[in-house]
Order: sequence, then C-alpha cells, then structure tokens
Amino acid sequence: MIHVIVLGSAAGGGLPQWNCNCANCRAAWAEHPALRASQASVAVSADGDNWFLINAAPDLRQQIIDNPRLHPKHGLRHSPIAGVVLTNGDVDAVAGLLHLRETWPFTIYGHDRILSVLRENSIFNVLDPAFVKRQPVELETAFELKLPDGEATGIEVVAFPVPGKVPLYLEDMSAADHGFGTEVGDTLGLHIRNRRNGAHFFYLAACADMTPALKERVAGAPLVFFDGTLWRDDEMIEAGLGTKTGKRMGHISMSGDAGSIAAFRDLGVDRKVFLHINNSNPAHIPGSPERATLERAGWTVPADGTEFVL
Ligand code: MLT
Ligand code: MN
Ligand code: ZN
Repeated sequence: MIHVIVLGSAAGGGLPQWNCNCANCRAAWAEHPALRASQASVAVSADGDNWFLINAAPDLRQQIIDNPRLHPKHGLRHSPIAGVVLTNGDVDAVAGLLHLRETWPFTIYGHDRILSVLRENSIFNVLDPAFVKRQPVELETAFELKLPDGEATGIEVVAFPVPGKVPLYLEDMSAADHGFGTEVGDTLGLHIRNRRNGAHFFYLAACADMTPALKERVAGAPLVFFDGTLWRDDEMIEAGLGTKTGKRMGHISMSGDAGSIAAFRDLGVDRKVFLHINNSNPAHIPGSPERATLERAGWTVPADGTEFVL
C-alpha cells in the first residue's frame, strides 16, 4: 500500500493569506472557516508509521498538529517524519524545514539546484548536519527512501525535470527572455512507487506545462497531483491582486484550451487532484461554477487532511 495525506492544498500564502481581503480570503477569514487551506504539501508512507513529506510548507507545524499520524509516538523525542523530498526551492516548499530543527534524524532529498539554496542560506544550518542528512537526487534515476537508521522502506522515487521556474527570490532579471535563469533541476516531478506491491502515483504540483513527454509518462496513472494555482492566467490581474500572469509566475491554468483540465482529458488518469491552489482561484469554493467544471472533468480539490490509499 501507499498512504498519501494531503497536508495542505493551497498555493503560497495559503487561504486566507495573511494580508489578503479578496473574496475567497474574506470568506475564509470570517463566515466560512471551513474554506481555510494551508500551503501545499503531502505526507507519504508505505507502512502507516514512517512518513516522508513532499516539500515542507511554512505551515508545517500546524499541519503536524492537525494530523495525528505525524505526532510523536514514544520516548521523550520522536517524530514519524523520516524525510522530506523537495520538488522546488520556493518559499512555500522549503520554509517549513525550519520547523524541523532540534535533534531528530531525517533526510532531505533534493536536486543540487535546491540543496544549493539550503547551503547558501545559512539559516538552514539550524538543521544540524549531525542529525539531518542532505541527499542529492539524480534525475531519472530511481532511489529508495530510507529510514534514518538506513532501513529500506520499499518506497521508490524517480525524480524528473518538469517545466517550471526558478524561485522568485532567485530570478535573474537580466535573463528575462530565458526563464529568469531557470535551469534543469529547479522544478521536479516525482513518480513514487511502493516496490513491494507496485502502488504508485505522480506528484506534479509545481509543473508549469504538460509536454507531450509528460503526457506519455502519466497516461493511465492511478493518481496524479497537479499544479492548480490559477483558474485563468490573468486572474490575479483581473482581481486587482497583482500584476503577473500565471505563466509569468511559472504556472499553468486549470481552464482554457492550454490548461491542465484540457491537457489531462484523454490521459486515462484515474484520480486527478489539484494542489497548490492560489487563494484567488474561484475553484477553491465548493459549489462555484469553476469547481463544478473541474469536478465534471474528474478532478478534485482536496480538503487539508484528505487521505488517499493506493
Ligand atoms: C509560486 O508558486 O509562484 C511561488 O510560491 C510564489 C512565491 O514564492 O511567492
Ligand atoms: Mn508556490
Ligand atoms: Zn486572497
């Protein structure tokens, strides 16, 4: 089996975002607290006891509190968290690592592009190297997630490059015509598989485009998590929330001929789940026409805490 718990489904900022009064956030602040969603991350386990996070969101402390499976189980100091696999270096993917300081052994798996962010920002040294290993991930090369004592978990990961963008804080404005300095390795897709029974899924929550190669790779998969940042590319501009399109931010939209819903239409993916949904996205709201459209196309927007068992 593979268990996947959605710790958070929202994009950077979460829903509500600390300084936002857009229609969705206003509803989540006050009359509809059930709308609240924390920043995107999932926890994965083969045995239900040892868990690996995909990305460490700034909301991680609250996500641990909200999910009893991640509470300390025994002894004075313990955590079921055995590792973190990073798919990109955005604030909403790495800032939560700072919650995992203190002496508990685990492994951070990431491409060297992202591990270099940790190396170059000395605040991450609070993750004492005597306890916290940093393991570079090679592209297209299967590796097995290990418990801190080296024990095998049976969970195999293949990381592969997907369209995306260098983190905002590393954008090279002199390279605006060349992806702002984006390089291979800045954004990873993950194929995660339990070697023991073949259960598997894809994590593509920072993927900015569906290329033909990517379509071929995920066709027929039992479960795919995919980037659901915006409903429409110009949604933040239209709402007066910002000046950038989704494309400029490194994201694909849900709707439209070039959107993710259309791209997955004939791929035969069994469960299609949006993650990293921006607070401006009307599909956050159950019952909205946009939500109804994506649900008709076989997609779901998971509430925080939703568990998938494969
Ligand atoms: C994004 O997904 O575009 C980033 O998280 C934006 C940011 O870093 O604020
Ligand atoms: Mn983000
Ligand atoms: Zn908002």
